[in-house]
Amino acid sequence: MKLASFSALCMTCTLVACAGDGEGLDENGRPAGEDSGTLQPTFQSIQSLVFTPACTGCHAGAAAPLGLRLDEGASYALLVNAPSVEVPALMRVQPGNPDASYLIQKIEGTAAVGARMPLNAPPLPQATVDVIRQWIADGAPNTSGGGSQKTRIEFAHLIAVSPMRFESAPASMREIVVTSDTELDTSLLQSDLVTLRVSGGDGEFAAGNERTVPVQVRVRSTQPSVLAIEPRVTPLAADEYELRISGSDPVALADLAARPIDGDHDGTAGGDFVLRFTVETAR
Ligand code: HEC
Repeated sequence: MKLASFSALCMTCTLVACAGDGEGLDENGRPAGEDSGTLQPTFQSIQSLVFTPACTGCHAGAAAPLGLRLDEGASYALLVNAPSVEVPALMRVQPGNPDASYLIQKIEGTAAVGARMPLNAPPLPQATVDVIRQWIADGAPNTSGGGSQKTRIEFAHLIAVSPMRFESAPASMREIVVTSDTELDTSLLQSDLVTLRVSGGDGEFAAGNERTVPVQVRVRSTQPSVLAIEPRVTPLAADEYELRISGSDPVALADLAARPIDGDHDGTAGGDFVLRFTVETAR
């Protein structure tokens, strides 16, 4: 199993404030909200002032172009250390390296494939692009996850990012992305903790006709831990699927304090995390 190497991210760099640029998104014809303030080189600020207003018209939900959702809660896991679909050699966001980040190439109009983003809309002002570049140069930290440090988390919970719960996925889906609210001990992933099963056509997972779909699990980032689970079989057959990540004996995924995940969200440690989803018939 191949685990992504963790580069030492510069999480503690002092963020350089862009003195007096005062750029909003008004030039693009979108109203800057009363409480919006000035764009800062933090993930939270970029999410609320750029991605949500300028990108989620297309990049949201199961039908998001190339599986890239930019809505709040999903965007970080699908951007940072996540390979681009158009140019797989490049990460959408490569922490510390704005020039090599495909996101920057797409919004600056220098990408080798496809159109400049936002599609069919005026380009983002250079001052906005520069703030996003600064955030990446600073190591692309996840500021919205910073809040979870203040409220004490009892046990690690997993959250489905793509597909989300009860969602249909296209047959072209390349990966299942799951994030955690607490950093996980990802060295444990070397054992057989993650299983993907297909129902065998009856939508049930206890009938005996299920099959296991081989997967490769990659750790995309830590703080929060983001797991990208790639089915080795593509495209996936139209059927019901069940992803299971063990939080129970004999081997459970655990946090850094060796406590098992609260996989079933019942407030106590232990229990499997189960995500069921449907793969649609290819159109
Ligand atoms: C009108 C719909 C639309 C809007 C708005 C839009 N996009 Fe896109 N985006 C697309 C489509 C369609 C593609 C694939 C075709 C292409 O690249 O031209 C794409 C591709 C991308 C890719 C390449 C993903 C990959 O894995 O290779 C990135 C990055 C991206 N968009 C970022 C953005 C950002 C950032 C915004 C907002 C500033 C945005 N897009 C706004 C429709 C849109």
